[in-house]
Amino acid sequence: MEERRLGPVVGLGTWNTFGGDAKTARAVVTGALAAGCRVVDSSPMYGGAEASLGAALTDRRPEATVATKIWASDVAQGQEQYHRQVEWFGRVEIEQIHNLAAWQGQLEWLERERAEGHVDRLGVTHYSPRAFEEVAEALRTRRFDVVQLPLNPIERESERELLPLAAELDVAVIVMRPLGEGALVEQSPPPSVLDELGVETWAQALLRWALSDERVDLVIPATRSAGRAASNAAAGSPPWFDTEQRRLVERFAA
Ligand SMILES: NC(=O)c1ccc[n+]([C@@H]2O[C@H](COP(=O)([O-])OP(=O)(O)OC[C@H]3O[C@@H](n4cnc5c(N)ncnc54)[C@H](OP(=O)(O)O)[C@@H]3O)[C@@H](O)[C@H]2O)c1
Repeated sequence: MEERRLGPVVGLGTWNTFGGDAKTARAVVTGALAAGCRVVDSSPMYGGAEASLGAALTDRRPEATVATKIWASDVAQGQEQYHRQVEWFGRVEIEQIHNLAAWQGQLEWLERERAEGHVDRLGVTHYSPRAFEEVAEALRTRRFDVVQLPLNPIERESERELLPLAAELDVAVIVMRPLGEGALVEQSPPPSVLDELGVETWAQALLRWALSDERVDLVIPATRSAGRAASNAAAGSPPWFDTEQRRLVERFAA
């Protein structure tokens, strides 16, 4: 097994942004890759995003790590999703079980794929704190390498049990909703605050806020804009925020 850490880096999410719009996908993925983003996250649940992402990557595929998901109520449907992903991406580096859907059953065949080297890492995801106890139970089996959970200055429930558990079990952490589905970036603090934080945009401040928690590996903001994908990617390098800078971000996000 390779090293646990995936980051700290900025990746690219694909929920609700380009769906089946391959032209937008191509522009956004090209912008993200040019800025150094290397991990893309998708799911069969994202309305055609996997197919557009596959088409957008084509000749750039070796530069990207593909993280996607199995979202199915039974094994046959899950395996069908996987076979389509292999057609689109060649292979899947990080395969996650979306929203814990039928996770015990899916995990058995996915572990065989990992053991045979077809998949590098297996993960589990959930967006709701109501499901975090079951996510913790899944992690305690020690059969997962990665967990994907929500984290931003106003959604911090994962700090209570899941982040400490992931660190204890050496499970890599992917953060969904780092910009609160866009709600946190509707207004930006004044430029003097961004200067104090050493960033150019408020989105970068929020992404660096999450990456400055050393238990976090990867944040995956989604966008329909190639320019934003590029500027978001720039948040994934040090210097990381200290406690004071993180508090400043929290104050303005509240
Ligand atoms: N939401 C969930 O429940 C969920 C669940 C599982 C997995 N995920 C994964 O996590 C990824 C990220 O979560 P998310 O997409 O829900 O929310 P998010 O990344 O927190 O926010 C996305 C929104 O932020 C806006 N945005 C992005 N960069 C910006 C910038 N630099 N300046 C201003 N606005 C910006 C985008 O609008 P524009 O398009 O206009 O830029 C988009 O509406 C998903 O795409 C998916 O891959 C999400």
